[in-house]
Amino acid sequence: MTDALIQTFRRQGRACQNLGSPFHAALLALAADDLEGGWDGAGLFAPWAEADAMAMFADAVPLRFLGGLHDMVLEGADAELAAAYPAPGRAADPARAWAAARAAVAARTERLAAFMAHEPQTNEVRRSVCLIGGFLEVARASGLPLQVFEIGSSAGLNLSFDRYRYDLGGACVGPADAPVRLDTDWSGPAAPVDAPLQVAARAACDRRPGDLTDPAQRRRLLAYIWPDQFERLGRIRAAIDLALELGVKVDAADAVAWTRERVAPRAGRATVLFHSVFWQYMPAESQAALAAAIADVGARAGAEAPFAWLRMEPAPPSMAAMEVRLTLWPAGEDRVLAEVHPHGAWVKWAG
Ligand SMILES: C[S@@+](CC[C@H](N)C(=O)[O-])C[C@H]1O[C@@H](n2cnc3c(N)ncnc32)[C@H](O)[C@@H]1O
Repeated sequence: MTDALIQTFRRQGRACQNLGSPFHAALLALAADDLEGGWDGAGLFAPWAEADAMAMFADAVPLRFLGGLHDMVLEGADAELAAAYPAPGRAADPARAWAAARAAVAARTERLAAFMAHEPQTNEVRRSVCLIGGFLEVARASGLPLQVFEIGSSAGLNLSFDRYRYDLGGACVGPADAPVRLDTDWSGPAAPVDAPLQVAARAACDRRPGDLTDPAQRRRLLAYIWPDQFERLGRIRAAIDLALELGVKVDAADAVAWTRERVAPRAGRATVLFHSVFWQYMPAESQAALAAAIADVGARAGAEAPFAWLRMEPAPPSMAAMEVRLTLWPAGEDRVLAEVHPHGAWVKWAG
């Protein structure tokens, strides 16, 4: 197991470096060095004893570990660890943080193991900046109010996308006084920001929705944001506050059954089914069943009741960037709207 674990930590470290968390990259490098030197992680990684490096990476073992440490920092459960973590106006000290983390692993093994037993639960608000162009495009093409359905919604933070303010490379859209403000490095033609975007109805599901009214679950969402990414942390905090104020609700349901039951074209509305970074978490049979359910909704769409399937998912073969794709019925026209950064840092808009 140790070789696979070391390999996984180093691979995740490179990914963190590339995606803008030098602090996590440094912690993972130090952890991998110590694993090479014989550190055993106090048994925290035992549940993956039989897993190879690929399976461990897919299971996000290093991210679970880092999430567990950050969760302790956010709760104020470990003062020494918290003191070495990055904070606005204070540089991170990875060597001190790693020493404190090793002590925390020894002293708080059970708490960390309990955190790591759950699969990561993330909800990236800035993905709305990748999707907003698609919603605008549907509004522009249909001229109708939207009824939107999100699957794999997590805590539902992207369901309120129309309540956020966007700066899309100087073209702005959304309420000017919105508490959640999203910008991105936009390239390509301008998004259709003058489209009549109005959301008449919204609903969402997740097989394991995050309950924002529960402080531990709120902290869990924050814990999976990388601690040296202060802007991301600020954005998710603002989005959580807004979601609590709006009473955002996410149904606990499997996406396939929920889509079959809930999503149908409706006259006078443009129906939009959307998702982000969700498809890969379904087994192949569910993917096929969901694709069939979506095609079935598409077959029932009409000129007065159009249906759009909008999604942001990894773009094969590189899987490093993601693409935003829109299929619009009744014609069933399918196109790639944009290539995007996984967390919305940039959008290459094709339009
Ligand atoms: C990586 S998260 C992305 C969450 C959110 N869409 C975002 O972009 O921030 C993937 C989500 O898909 C959910 N999920 C995976 N399989 C599912 C299924 N079959 N039905 C409903 N939700 C599912 C998970 O529970 C998780 O919340």
